[in-house]
Amino acid sequence: MSRQHVVVLGGTGFVGRHLVPRVLRDGHRVTVVSRGLTTDTRAALSRQASVREGDVHDTDFLANVFGDADAVVNLTGILNEKGDRGDGFERVFVGITESVIAAMKASGTPRLLHMSALNAGHGDSHYLQSRGRAEAKVRGSGLQWTIFRPSVIAGPGDGLFCRFDKLLGMAPVLPIARGHARFQPVWVGDVAEAYARAINDPKSIGQVYELVGPDELSLAQIVRLTAQARGRSRMVLSLSERLGRWQANIGELLPGKPISRDNWRSLALDSTSRDNGLPKLGITPTRVTDRLREILRLDTAPAT
Ligand SMILES: NC(=O)c1ccc[n+]([C@@H]2O[C@H](COP(=O)([O-])OP(=O)(O)OC[C@H]3O[C@@H](n4cnc5c(N)ncnc54)[C@H](OP(=O)(O)O)[C@@H]3O)[C@@H](O)[C@H]2O)c1
Repeated sequence: MSRQHVVVLGGTGFVGRHLVPRVLRDGHRVTVVSRGLTTDTRAALSRQASVREGDVHDTDFLANVFGDADAVVNLTGILNEKGDRGDGFERVFVGITESVIAAMKASGTPRLLHMSALNAGHGDSHYLQSRGRAEAKVRGSGLQWTIFRPSVIAGPGDGLFCRFDKLLGMAPVLPIARGHARFQPVWVGDVAEAYARAINDPKSIGQVYELVGPDELSLAQIVRLTAQARGRSRMVLSLSERLGRWQANIGELLPGKPISRDNWRSLALDSTSRDNGLPKLGITPTRVTDRLREILRLDTAPAT
């Protein structure tokens, strides 16, 4: 395996914290691009990774960072935007993708490993629609691209089990919108592994990998499993469509946005796949329900 220089945008996030050390382990050189490190993101970053701080929308800055890079991994993303117009998602998903592609062309960087999501381009959520438009930019770029479309990603500190764990700690009853929506949570280590293998394997060029785990669970089941894992007795209420929509309208205004109107629209589609890319990359999908203690850090952290 030849040593490559891999630039990772959004490498400070949940997925990046697993992906960067995994790629370093293969002996590659890694540069993380960040809008600005915080004390926490600096502490969590692998020491061997270089960091460049700057504006990820600035093509000149990116072209300068890419320099002699062999591959770019784009993990930037947001789950919520300010308001409900779609312009926040458009700016992050489509805008940054355009800047990355332009900078790669300017610097002569050949490979782009692009993070997307299951159902990209489907349904009427702004999140998924902008994901679809970003994928179209990648496919039309002329670069050596690979696209990854995970279901929801699970692991210690995730935005799924850990987020519900926090909410369950605050109330004896948890009402949830579209509790019937189905997911196949994929282990964060498997996602990092998929990227690492794709970087090393030119056969992944031009491929779209859907990434899912073996457990297919409804949102309501995910919340109940979270409560059970911590030994909490909680009532999980699946709301009607009307009440769920109302909850999303209100949730969007609350601190931390437990749910938004756009999250609610995304939940109209199951985040599942019958075309799992993990085995295609030689990875046996991890059962996340076997890892709940680790995900919730039950053996290391006290209940909140
Ligand atoms: N977690 C999941 O369940 C899941 C499922 C499907 C797809 N995805 C996608 O996978 C990617 C990584 O997910 P993640 O969970 O690691 O996300 P994350 O923890 O929120 O990290 C994303 C990174 O993006 C950068 N970022 C955040 N807001 C930004 C903005 N407004 N403009 C530019 N950059 C911004 C941040 O880096 P800096 O602050 O250092 O700039 C951040 O570390 C994202 O594209 C996400 O949408 C995640």
